[in-house]
Amino acid sequence: MGSTLITGIGSLVTNDPALGAGPLGPVTDAAVVLDGGRIAWVGPAAGAPAADEVFDAAGRAAVPGFVDSHSHLVFAGDRTAEFNARMSGQSYTAGGIRTTVAATRAATDEALDANVARYVGEALRQGTTVLECKSGYGLTVEDEARALRIAARHTDEVTYLGAHVVAPEYADDPAAYVDLVTGPMLDACAPHAGWVDVFCERGAFDGDQARAILTAGAKRGLTPRVHANQLTEGPGVQLAVELGAASADHCTHLTDADVAALASASASTVATLLPGAEFSTRARYPDARRLLDAGATVALSTDCNPGSSFTTSVPFCIAVAVREMGMTPDEALWSATAGGAAALRRTDVGRVTVGARADLVLLDAPSHVHLAYRPGVPLVAAVWRAGVREV
Ligand code: NIG
Ligand code: FE
Repeated sequence: MGSTLITGIGSLVTNDPALGAGPLGPVTDAAVVLDGGRIAWVGPAAGAPAADEVFDAAGRAAVPGFVDSHSHLVFAGDRTAEFNARMSGQSYTAGGIRTTVAATRAATDEALDANVARYVGEALRQGTTVLECKSGYGLTVEDEARALRIAARHTDEVTYLGAHVVAPEYADDPAAYVDLVTGPMLDACAPHAGWVDVFCERGAFDGDQARAILTAGAKRGLTPRVHANQLTEGPGVQLAVELGAASADHCTHLTDADVAALASASASTVATLLPGAEFSTRARYPDARRLLDAGATVALSTDCNPGSSFTTSVPFCIAVAVREMGMTPDEALWSATAGGAAALRRTDVGRVTVGARADLVLLDAPSHVHLAYRPGVPLVAAVWRAGVREV
């Protein structure tokens, strides 16, 4: 693979404050050189070096590839009827997860693999170049390990979520299910994952159970991340910060103490907001402004899953975050790129700087602000991932 010069970029977001003013580090009339899967050069087009191939962006805007740090793509079936009922007034509960568990267990490996490929492809066409993927619709030792093996064929960011809800077989004995998740299921799953997650919520797992699950995972080398404070206030966020989780995801119902914990100087936990979930469950949106003003690091992700948020579109999440959650277009873009990278503890993605992975999205727009200004419009014109033109 030779080098590629992408020139004529009217407005480039780098997320490197050394390259331009503020967190987005913008460069106008910019160029980028991709070489060997990495960014080899970035700066004003007038000073760009020669390369094997030249691509003319014709004045359009470019941004780092989106980093979607939260999705659940290993599933079968869908939940159209449940969504329809919600839009007729019913409320969302964790219990719907079991519908997808039944469909997923019944599916072949090939069907699940094809589904993941389909949604990863959908996401890529919308600019997502890094995507985390969880298990959580198997809930047996075999089905969880299978989900992780399949996820790992499509991404490096794989999360063990055996603790999504208590498996139906253990409805009368949740403690025994926690023993399974922290014992034989963890043994089977740890080799295939880098992260451990738990749905800490009424109807799923309480604070003590979540602590046991995350601690057991951490002992096996899996870094915690937590589904926290989605439907109600609860212990999830505090637990995530206390255990040094990479992220607390959802953060919809927060106390002042939760916000303070996420914002504290020692917190290494990113607040990951998932507006697709509130959109699709007709719920109140998380207050991004409150978190940002307090000083928390905020990521934006899709939470793509067939129950609460059936979207692979980061641009959609950016538009909703700007319109409904108090984020500026600049903040929302940062959170969907550098924020997602922080939530995955990655420094090689989420920014366009020399040495970073060559993940770049060209927009059919003069500015990244159009991602929020033109909601629902397919603005992604080209995508490079690790230096390869994919879209
Ligand atoms: O992140 N909150 C828990 N898990 C998913 C929903 C899963 C489902 O409803 O199938 C979420 O929103
Ligand atoms: Fe989720």
